[in-house]
Amino acid sequence: MSLGTTAVAPPRSGLSPRRRGLTATSPFLRAAAGDRPERVPVWFMRQAGRVLPEYRALRATTAMLDSCRNAEMVTEITLQPVRRFRPDAAIFFSDIVLPLAAVGVDVDIVAGVGPVVAQPIRARADLDVLRPLQPDDVPYVSTAVGMLIRELGETPLIGFAGAPFTLASYLIEGGPSRSHTRTKALMYSDPELWHDLLGRLAEITTGFLRVQVDAGADAVQLFDSWAGALNEDDYLRYVAPHSARVLSAFADDGVPRIHFGVNTGQLLGAMGAAGADVVGVDWRVPLDEAALRVGGDRAVQGNLDPATVFAPADVLAEKVRDVCRRGAAAPGHIFNFGHGVLPESDPGVLAHIVDLVHEF
Ligand code: CP3
Repeated sequence: MSLGTTAVAPPRSGLSPRRRGLTATSPFLRAAAGDRPERVPVWFMRQAGRVLPEYRALRATTAMLDSCRNAEMVTEITLQPVRRFRPDAAIFFSDIVLPLAAVGVDVDIVAGVGPVVAQPIRARADLDVLRPLQPDDVPYVSTAVGMLIRELGETPLIGFAGAPFTLASYLIEGGPSRSHTRTKALMYSDPELWHDLLGRLAEITTGFLRVQVDAGADAVQLFDSWAGALNEDDYLRYVAPHSARVLSAFADDGVPRIHFGVNTGQLLGAMGAAGADVVGVDWRVPLDEAALRVGGDRAVQGNLDPATVFAPADVLAEKVRDVCRRGAAAPGHIFNFGHGVLPESDPGVLAHIVDLVHEF
């Protein structure tokens, strides 16, 4: 028996008592709101899985997307890095392509490669599969979020989804791409089809985040990992309106909205203006400079180079402190890497970084 099969949506007005308490005390939520809590909050993108032996043991016989469909596994994998590193936030274990699979796209995650789409989107008829996502498509997500917020206590839970552009790139290319050639070709040659595609993806993404927020997620992060492949003009014309629609859908939920991409130095202002409370910054632009580009009026997240974990201890410590010092130029700062944890990272070094940030 699964719960929540009736169409009655939980009330959205105001914050739950749990969130009201957290918002006042959690360093992560306070920094996201542009405040300066007593310590710099820290979490790591892709902190779940990858580097943890207990994750590999649990996943040994279960395919990636199947593990995302198992609420007990999702809960356990989300909690593993929280136990190890004591970060200031947990990120829900799932994947950006899960909602696509849930509406019927034939997509799989191939280890060492990434998402692979059996029938890439190339023509209008290919859009038919991209129907809106309903809560019933992902019952295990609300179940897992509910289990997690009971376990997490005072640690906030971040829900997430892929942004329309990044999802479109996987769907059009059929898999990971460095140059996004086919994606840009479609964008330039058939803007009408492009906007219809991104509109449908915005709806699916909103639906996926809505399930997480209604079940109790405390914040959301929109991953537009590959938006940095665009210049600002094309970003504003072809992408920003769709991401803005997603972010604006959560304007009244009281959850901070983090907007992240890689190689987006030229887009930081536009990504903030799309409706983010927090702008994620990779390691290429110093945080004080990034805070200026964002406009000086919202929080930033980042931005240690994930490869710094392989540096000698004194170099690592100085780079952590440098990120903290520069982050103080923004109204709020959440410490993170500039992109996901590298698979070869030593979990002990990640735990050490959390301590260094908290001691700052
Ligand atoms: O700690 C977390 O952040 C857990 C949740 C999470 C996963 N993927 C789990 C995962 C999140 C937030 C993501 C986001 C995601 N997925 C992004 C955006 C973030 C980014 O890195 O820019 C993207 C682009 C994807 C698509 C994707 N899924 C890729 C590129 C890969 C890696 C493929 C590989 O093996 O190199 C995946 C698979 C994936 N997603 C894994 C995990 C833990 C690895 C699966 C495994 O253990 O075999």
